[in-house]
Amino acid sequence: MLKYLITVLAAGLALGLAVPAGAAGDVAAGEKLAAKCSGCHGKAGEGKGKNPPVAGMDAAAHVKALQDYKSGARDHKAMMRSVAKLSDQDMADIAAYYAAMK
Ligand code: HEC
Repeated sequence: MLKYLITVLAAGLALGLAVPAGAAGDVAAGEKLAAKCSGCHGKAGEGKGKNPPVAGMDAAAHVKALQDYKSGARDHKAMMRSVAKLSDQDMADIAAYYAAMK
């Protein structure tokens, strides 16, 4: 039983570590990619109407949100279309760009 628990715990830990702690994002690359987002989220990521603000968002939370739209775990047509072609590195770059904003 104890052995089983340890195995389960170890597996959980390994999974936790496998979830991208975030490849380092490149702010300059993120700025270019974010041109596609500013139409809805605002030039400074300030948000507009139904589009939530993304400026200053925690980078890890931002990447997670984008991955969830890409995987369909978060279901929103406009966002799913926006992230469909983004790579993990693109997401990290965009997240770094917005995280650097206040
Ligand atoms: C067509 C308009 C549109 C475009 C383009 C768009 N978004 Fe969004 N975005 C939205 C809307 C609307 C929501 C809220 C969706 C929901 O309720 O899940 C959202 C949600 C988000 C969220 C989740 C915010 C939170 O607080 O959970 C993030 C992060 C985000 N967008 C980032 C981006 C990025 C990065 C891009 C560019 C690659 C982008 N969006 C392009 C409209 C847009």
